[in-house]
Amino acid sequence: MPAVVLIGAQWGDEGKGKITDYLAEKADMVVRYQGGNNAGHTVVVGENEFKLHLIPSGILYPGTTCIIGNGVVIDPKVFVEELNYLHDKGVNTDGLRVSNRAHIIMPYHILQDKLDEEYKGVNKIGTTHRGIGPAYMDKAGRTGIRVVDLLDEEEFGVRLKRNLLEKNRLFNKVYEVEGLEFEKIFEEYKGYAKIIGKYAIDTSVIIHEYLAEKKNVLFEGAQGTLLDIDHGTYPYVTSSHPVAGAVCIGAGVGPLEINDVIGIVKAYTTRVGEGPFPTELIGEEGNRIRECGNEFGTTTGRPRRCGWLDAVILKYAVRINGLNHIAVTKLDVLDKLEKIKMCVGYKYKGAMLNDFPASLKVLAQCTPIYEEFDGWMTETSGVEKYEELPLQARIYLERLSEIIKVEPAIVAVGAKRSQTIIRENIYSDS
Ligand code: GDP
Ligand code: IMO
Ligand code: MG
Repeated sequence: MPAVVLIGAQWGDEGKGKITDYLAEKADMVVRYQGGNNAGHTVVVGENEFKLHLIPSGILYPGTTCIIGNGVVIDPKVFVEELNYLHDKGVNTDGLRVSNRAHIIMPYHILQDKLDEEYKGVNKIGTTHRGIGPAYMDKAGRTGIRVVDLLDEEEFGVRLKRNLLEKNRLFNKVYEVEGLEFEKIFEEYKGYAKIIGKYAIDTSVIIHEYLAEKKNVLFEGAQGTLLDIDHGTYPYVTSSHPVAGAVCIGAGVGPLEINDVIGIVKAYTTRVGEGPFPTELIGEEGNRIRECGNEFGTTTGRPRRCGWLDAVILKYAVRINGLNHIAVTKLDVLDKLEKIKMCVGYKYKGAMLNDFPASLKVLAQCTPIYEEFDGWMTETSGVEKYEELPLQARIYLERLSEIIKVEPAIVAVGAKRSQTIIRENIYSDS
């Protein structure tokens, strides 16, 4: 089963970094295919904690080739900072490659992101202010600058000049702020180009070589299904496609190459930023989950909104991504709760909804239908086998599987590599 896609099944922060790191032990290659440094993936290795935003979480295994694919938007400053961060921690990054077709996040994207959010006021999206939306807007608008353009000094200068003319007009006339200077950006980015240049290639070629040799390739998603620009709770979404289908475009592989799709499911639900969240818990119950789960953003440090597990969105994620496995993470966070709820359906105007609605107005009027479970009130963080999980925990997981019709292949009961229960091998030892 060499080509596996790993995606977030909720609103991000499901523990994709941890599971990627776990599976990366047997992967020959790990590929990021969308998003940018809006992602924050925390990986715990022994006593060390790594926070990765741009570089694939597979980088922590020395022999693994790591790819930043063409579908990712790269902030070169963050790229260089993250390289230095890893080098300082003794991590070897020789196996890293960056697509020469990936688009570059420019300082004007970051400024535009912040100004646009300010301008929206109460209607803001609650973005990470990393310039992600404007960078994808320019990509679609055909004014983006790609890695290959950055590496060509002359080409870069021409494009930067042209883009600044337009962006500065927007900053001056619409937002009424000062524009950005060409010279300063040009010089700074020339420096980044020297470093990125060492890693830049046509990554699709090497991905294909690995796939042709039947090597294990893991595609690491960022964000989550409900943040997808097409399938998420639009407009409260990110500007890329966190769903499994995006692998084909963002890495340059055909759909027939993919063997498995694994959805990462947090044992409850969280969301950062604005937008609908039907099972959100406001007040004491939400605070308790936030404290137990340490639910504060890896990228922005914002407190994450917390709520009960929502099987309606998970059923939707199964359909949209074609999930054939799930990995349930952070089960241990629920260890001390006397009662645990799971949303098994939405009621809208007195009737049960069959599918997750497209309209946010409809969603706002949906009432979650809950089933209540007795908590297991036992520590699970040391459990190594599925059968050894408390009965009530297994009942909770099995009810979820019954609704979404996908079984957990992995259950995580802690942040460490060792706190991972395997029920089904995604990558065999062969
Ligand atoms: P990602 O963006 O999907 O990679 O998730 P984040 O890294 O942003 O957030 C998940 C957080 O939970 C990280 O701090 C992980 O170290 C931690 N984590 C992952 N799995 C588990 C688990 O099973 N139990 C606990 N307690 N923490 C976990
Ligand atoms: P990982 O990979 C959780 C959210 C932001 C905001 C919306 C749009 O760690 O799961 P953007 O900056 O992308 O334009 O913001 O998307 N968001 C995330 N939420 N986890 C993430 O990544 C996220 N990346 C973006 O909070 O609501
Ligand atoms: Mg995260």
